[in-house]
Amino acid sequence: MNPFFLLIFLFPRTSQPVAAAPVAGSRTDAGGLNRDNFPVGFTFGTAASAYQVEGMALKDGRGPSIWDEFIKIPGEIKNNATAAVTVDEYHRYKVDIDIMKNMNFDAYRFSISWSRIFPNGSGKVNWKGVAYYNRLIDYMLQQGITPFANLYHYDLPEALEKSYNGLLSRNVVKDYADYAEFCFKTFGDRVKNWFTFNEPRVVAALGYDNGIFAPGRCTGCTAGGNSTTEPYIVAHNLILSHAAAVKRYRDKYHVSQKGRIGILLDFVWYEPLTNSTDDEAAAQRARDFHIGWFLHPIIYGEYPKSVQDIVKERLPTFTAEEISIVKGSVDYLGVNQYTSYYMFDPHLPTQTSTGYQTDWNVGFAYERDGVPIGPRANSDWLYIVPWGMYKAVTYVKENYQNPTIILSENGMDDPGNVSLTVGVHDATRLNYYKSYISELKRAIDDGATVIGYFAWSLLDNFEWKLGYTSRFGIVYVDFKTLKRYPKMSAYWFKDVLQKKK
Ligand SMILES: *[C@@H]1O[C@H](CO)[C@@H](O)[C@H](O)[C@H]1NC(C)=O
Ligand SMILES: *[C@@H]1O[C@H](CO)[C@@H](O)[C@H](O)[C@H]1NC(C)=O
Ligand SMILES: *[C@@H]1O[C@H](CO)[C@@H](O)[C@H](O)[C@H]1NC(C)=O
Ligand SMILES: *[C@@H]1O[C@H](CO)[C@@H](O)[C@H](O)[C@H]1NC(C)=O
Ligand SMILES: *[C@@H]1O[C@H](CO)[C@@H](O)[C@H](O)[C@H]1NC(C)=O
Repeated sequence: MNPFFLLIFLFPRTSQPVAAAPVAGSRTDAGGLNRDNFPVGFTFGTAASAYQVEGMALKDGRGPSIWDEFIKIPGEIKNNATAAVTVDEYHRYKVDIDIMKNMNFDAYRFSISWSRIFPNGSGKVNWKGVAYYNRLIDYMLQQGITPFANLYHYDLPEALEKSYNGLLSRNVVKDYADYAEFCFKTFGDRVKNWFTFNEPRVVAALGYDNGIFAPGRCTGCTAGGNSTTEPYIVAHNLILSHAAAVKRYRDKYHVSQKGRIGILLDFVWYEPLTNSTDDEAAAQRARDFHIGWFLHPIIYGEYPKSVQDIVKERLPTFTAEEISIVKGSVDYLGVNQYTSYYMFDPHLPTQTSTGYQTDWNVGFAYERDGVPIGPRANSDWLYIVPWGMYKAVTYVKENYQNPTIILSENGMDDPGNVSLTVGVHDATRLNYYKSYISELKRAIDDGATVIGYFAWSLLDNFEWKLGYTSRFGIVYVDFKTLKRYPKMSAYWFKDVLQKKK
């Protein structure tokens, strides 16, 4: 899922975490939802990422990623947890795919770990890693689960960080494109749905502006960094890497393999706190700095005007040749949508930039006139705001030429320490899905071209900074035995997704 640590701690929060309350009865109604409410061919699936579910982090020939380095720093991850084993999907993938099938899902959005394929980022291939993804893909197809493969989910090979500072270097573009091409060549006979990067905004902002994520860089961070410049350099290199991989796919594989390729962008809905022109402009800046930072170049070939005006000479520029490969570089767009915030203009005096987040020049609010925007989940960034789903999707439709969208992540978490009995009675999550998917349907009915929906996530798993203290699954995992127990929300999907005979 999308960890979204922003300025949250600068503003008081008043709403309380939502407890997963036990409910009477084992099922609630589908809320009027079923497959027939969605366009023909609409795909329902669940999403996960390699590092969060696979385990075998440093085994079977996998090289370390920047996250394997980052988690070694004492105190970075809750309870010093690691992803060495996590939920062991590396060995239990058949169990997991069987659950997907049993719950009537059509697809699985998984990610490939770059350093499991190329332990050093480039050069020698780890064939054991290739064999794992072949087993995974083949079993999915055997069970009628369509693979949606994402090539990068926060996990840069550590070797590239060491040799040239990873995403800060233009060298990464070729290494990434080579890795992507290897995957197209090796798995593309069976994988027809590709994504280049998951949440590049999170990679650039959390890795280089506030240093909360690997590689932990920022102005003043122990690892070094410069929050005013590095996020923009990294974002630029991510966009160029994405475009280079898409070009390889289109030039060499598309005709024979007939697949599609896109990128996964996180998007929070930013609602102006008041109707004042200033607050509306603040909300628009937030949207530009958030999704526009990546989507504007991909659709229009340049960064949003507001970003250009504020970041000025710190913002890298695209050459004409780069624009020609960046512009139009998606067949479909993945949108990860979880939450919404109110935005206001803080009316701060003009000052020199201290980083990407302060460049937004906005204030965050979580309530209006004393009314919370929504109840809060376990994660402190995650307010439950179903109407934000409608607005986010409609915004992308209206501002970015109604692209083909896959709603590629959506979900909420409970605390890690809820017991099995309480955990499987996830009424709050069931209602979250029911209300958010209803709002997605409303956006589709109003003309958004959405072709798929992926819940985050099938399983409770390793939740980055939060380790195992956060449970996003529709299936409860006992972290000691690693047994899987479908929650009520999983059975809700099973009902909604029933196929007519
Ligand atoms: C994490 O590791 C550090 C260093 O070993 C230790 O000081 C700290 O108490 C550990 N934290 C937890 C929650 O175990
Ligand atoms: C990765 O690089 C290291 C150091 O250069 C080398 O010792 C190792 O053999 C390489 N591993 C692979 C799989 O290429
Ligand atoms: C960050 O980079 C800019 C531009 O090179 C420079 O002016 C500034 O001093 C740097 N800040 C830090 C904290 O290194
Ligand atoms: C903004 O204006 C609209 C239309 O006049 C109104 O419905 C809405 O309540 C106003 N919102 C706020 C926050 O004042
Ligand atoms: C879970 O942990 C939180 C925070 O430490 C604590 O307040 C709560 O009582 C715990 N709940 C259970 C069910 O153990």
